Amino acid sequence: MRICRTKADVRDAVKDFRAKGETVGLVPTMGYLHNGHMSLVSVAKAATSRVVATIFVNPTQFGDAADLDAYPRDEARDFALLEAAGVDAVFVPSVTEMYHANKQTTVETEQLANILMGALRPNHYKGVCTVVSKLFNIVQPDKAFFGEKDYQQLLVIQTMVRDLDIPVDAIGVPTVRDVDGLALSSRNVRLTADDRQAALILNKALAYGDYEASDGREAAELERDIHAFIAREPRATVQSVDVRDAFTLEVPVGKIDSPVVILLAASFGDVLLIDQRVSDPS
Ligand code: PAJ
Repeated sequence: MRICRTKADVRDAVKDFRAKGETVGLVPTMGYLHNGHMSLVSVAKAATSRVVATIFVNPTQFGDAADLDAYPRDEARDFALLEAAGVDAVFVPSVTEMYHANKQTTVETEQLANILMGALRPNHYKGVCTVVSKLFNIVQPDKAFFGEKDYQQLLVIQTMVRDLDIPVDAIGVPTVRDVDGLALSSRNVRLTADDRQAALILNKALAYGDYEASDGREAAELERDIHAFIAREPRATVQSVDVRDAFTLEVPVGKIDSPVVILLAASFGDVLLIDQRVSDPS
């Protein structure tokens, strides 16, 4: 596995792959890898002949400096996992390598970036779109892989690709869960044993919501019922429950008759978890 610390290094690696007629898949991450990230790598390996992973804790998508500083990092462990999974090159730039000191250009989806999680985290999706478009320009992959776990992020990136005619196929990969159903996240290690058990309510609430959505319900009514379902778990503090059109994230009008996504955010202690599930009533 080639370890590339500069844009020139990774461009060189990709040039060599291209010279051999290989296709290139990109897996962008912020590191501290778990099996959710590794599933993106497996899907990428099956879809393209060479895989480039990136590890970059992107400062422009963080709201406050403390959150950025607290982000967990373990480069040696990440490299070992990527190498064992057969990744061909990893791009690990520094902040100064990635961003010009006098940078002036950003990329933003206008509406999608400012609703739901974007309303709670101003400028977050602008930071994501800008860094992902830079990674697309640096690596120039054929395909890039993103988790459905961050559902709004996936739609924001696919919308950016469509609107700017970026020649990259941005592909969604299903959420990887622990055997008991909890969606994998680097935050799970911060849960107490009791909270980890309590957090199983999220996946159960998604199964309940999926079942109810097929029953010709209205979105607002379904949101209320899912909220009440999660609130039965005393250790959970519900932050948001949204039932939205699965393609546009708009509020569905009337009875649900086309695919919706159920988006959940709830805290357990001081750990905020998110989860999602697409439900197709047809
Ligand atoms: P990060 O949080 O490291 O996630 C990297 C990728 O892994 C994202 O596409 C995310 O959706 C996916 N992922 C996380 N948990 C998953 C799970 N349980 N199952 C499947 N996929 C999962 O998301 C980011 O980094 C950044 O915003 C990034 C896109 C790299 C831009 O900086």
